[in-house]
Amino acid sequence: MVSDVNSHAPDGQPWRITVLRNRNGMVATFMDWGATWLSARVPMQDGSVREALLGCATPSDYLHQDAYLGATVGRYANRIASAELKKINLLLAANQGPHQLHGGPEGFDKRRWQILSQSDSEVHYRIDSPDGDQGYPGNLIADVIYQLDDDNCVSIRYTAHTDKACPVGLTNHAYFNLDAHHGDARQHRLQLQADRYLPVDSAGIPAAPLKAVDGTSFDFRQPKCIADDFLADDDQKAVKGYDHGFLLNTAGDCSQPAAQLWSADGRLQLSVFTSAPALQFYSGNYLAGTRAREQDSYTAFQGIALESEFLPDSPNHSEWPQPDCWLQPGDTWRSVTRYRFTPHAAG
Ligand code: BGC
Repeated sequence: MVSDVNSHAPDGQPWRITVLRNRNGMVATFMDWGATWLSARVPMQDGSVREALLGCATPSDYLHQDAYLGATVGRYANRIASAELKKINLLLAANQGPHQLHGGPEGFDKRRWQILSQSDSEVHYRIDSPDGDQGYPGNLIADVIYQLDDDNCVSIRYTAHTDKACPVGLTNHAYFNLDAHHGDARQHRLQLQADRYLPVDSAGIPAAPLKAVDGTSFDFRQPKCIADDFLADDDQKAVKGYDHGFLLNTAGDCSQPAAQLWSADGRLQLSVFTSAPALQFYSGNYLAGTRAREQDSYTAFQGIALESEFLPDSPNHSEWPQPDCWLQPGDTWRSVTRYRFTPHAAG
């Protein structure tokens, strides 16, 4: 990243960048603004280094994009229909028409996180979110710890506590492109361990019950090139591609990959492990114009997001087979997602 050391974040303070390194020479970079994952540089078998993440050229560019590149998203990632918590008859701050997306207009991605500790392998961020923040009930404290290990695995561990019942579901919004020149990411192959996905309307709001992936373009149980069935059915057409919550068969089991992604040239593989019940697979349908690190701006479909979450609008849907997203006072919300990068020799 080009350092714009003279620029400051909106609170007048400098950006704080943290660089993690492992024994293989992998380097992962983070920023306290938005507790954002900026970069993942993976040493390849041929001695080259591949950047696996989309990102901006400078920290201040992150303020001028609405793709949530690499950001920590909260309190509740994804959409809440009509920005309404029906159970307690409370209206949240809306930021996508009448709906709330990714925690509201001033969500956790747009905030300074405190660095509690850092080392060569780990950085620990905390945010203090007051009662009423973005309309949410309760004082909430959320922690995110990023760790890079010698398996080229970036682990993200979240915890949160509240003093009033509140829906909580933080995620990271990294976009991956595992090819050297960051071409159309629909050329990647994807495997997703999900028998069911959630159809949504054109605003991304759940529009029907969970649906079996069998016989649809949403079946990624065997590795499939994303381009193969792109826009092949109405559920995709509604949102210009894939932008859906998949209910994971792994159901919180972190020991087996929930998803795997391969670069078009097969030389870099990403395995995603998560304790979350669902993954939002977003094919970057609205990325066009987003400020980019290597070029002026990204084009649509240049990156793939695999966000560990609850299904969209879960605070208003107790009928789906996943854990309750409402955090109670005295309880701890915990979630872990691991992104492991595996380089392969040329085929
Ligand atoms: C959403 C997309 C949205 C993107 C950036 C994704 O998580 O599902 O609809 O465009 O985030 O906000």
